[in-house]
Amino acid sequence: MAFKERVFSGVQPTGNLHLGNYLGAITKFVALQERYDCLYCVVDLHAITVWQDPAELPRATREVTAAFLASGIDAKKQIIFNQSQVAEHAELAWVFNCVARLGWLNRMTQFKEKAGKDRENVSVGLYAYPNLMAADILVYRATHVPVGEDQKQHLELTRDIAQKFNTDFAQSIHAHGYGEAFFPLPEPIIQGPATRVMSLRDGSKKMSKSEPSDYSRINLTDDADAIAQKIRKAKTDPEPLPSEEKGLEPRPEADNLVGIYAALKGVSKLGVLKEFGGGQFSTFKTALADLSVAKLGPIGAEMKKLMQDPVYIDSVLADGAARAQVIAAETMKAVKDIVGFVRR
Ligand code: AMP
Ligand code: TRP
Repeated sequence: MAFKERVFSGVQPTGNLHLGNYLGAITKFVALQERYDCLYCVVDLHAITVWQDPAELPRATREVTAAFLASGIDAKKQIIFNQSQVAEHAELAWVFNCVARLGWLNRMTQFKEKAGKDRENVSVGLYAYPNLMAADILVYRATHVPVGEDQKQHLELTRDIAQKFNTDFAQSIHAHGYGEAFFPLPEPIIQGPATRVMSLRDGSKKMSKSEPSDYSRINLTDDADAIAQKIRKAKTDPEPLPSEEKGLEPRPEADNLVGIYAALKGVSKLGVLKEFGGGQFSTFKTALADLSVAKLGPIGAEMKKLMQDPVYIDSVLADGAARAQVIAAETMKAVKDIVGFVRR
């Protein structure tokens, strides 16, 4: 059966939205809205898998919403909402807790990284997080999921869950008239020169919201001075830039900055090296700082403006949630029939 093409993606409201989120995810969200029906979700249920200050969480949720709007996502044509307003996410996640296998979750590298040595003490939610992510996507039967490279494994798990549900319940799916397969196997969209933006201080670590040093990342709300200063101070090596991509391989910091420039400008890394190869880093960094300020400055300014009007932001979220719920409720009705729950 052919599934209606639909895009879903999520961003956690955990503070410090950065250039990695922007290039790895949000710019893709903006581009995809030209071709698809899209749902973009502020995943607050995911956020609380680690402690969030209840006095801070609403602000962080509104900030991600503001970033979506400021980047150019059309809230009228597409659906922007926060996860906790659509209870069906949690409802389907429970069913998936009973579909996914312990062994599958045990392999998740993000859980291992986040839990570290303190496994006994992390929340059960952190462990089950990939099942909730699968539910986010599949409750809309979404077919395409734009994400950064770090989410690849979670997308593979989502496909495994969809596949196992379709197989385990094949007879019931058929008996209820849902054809051969109820859930699509969603495709990740991980493309371009900046699917994994690295820390400006350490080319072996990914740029992250939670890294203590603010110099490791460019925040979407940084002003022009902060952006320029962070790029000037970004770690590099003493060599000039290479003229070919191969020359970037052993140089993670140089590779990262070239990838950022390429993504911001919409060209390939090779295109950047054609322009700057053989030149000094200082010249390239000045150009990168100017480009970053030109691209991010207006977004940061618009975010700050939107943040002054939480009533408007909340109305966008409420409207989005109402529209999302119509789709989600229809899926859950079918899932209940398929699983064999007696419905009202
Ligand atoms: P998160 O902040 O973890 O909710 O991530 C939101 C989106 O940004 C996901 O699609 C991530 O894969 C993406 N993302 C996060 N960090 C990076 C990074 N350093 N480089 C590229 N994409 C990223
Ligand atoms: N796990 C993703 C992250 O940390 C966020 C997320 C939650 C998501 N649900 C999703 C991304 C569904 C894509 C689709 O970045």
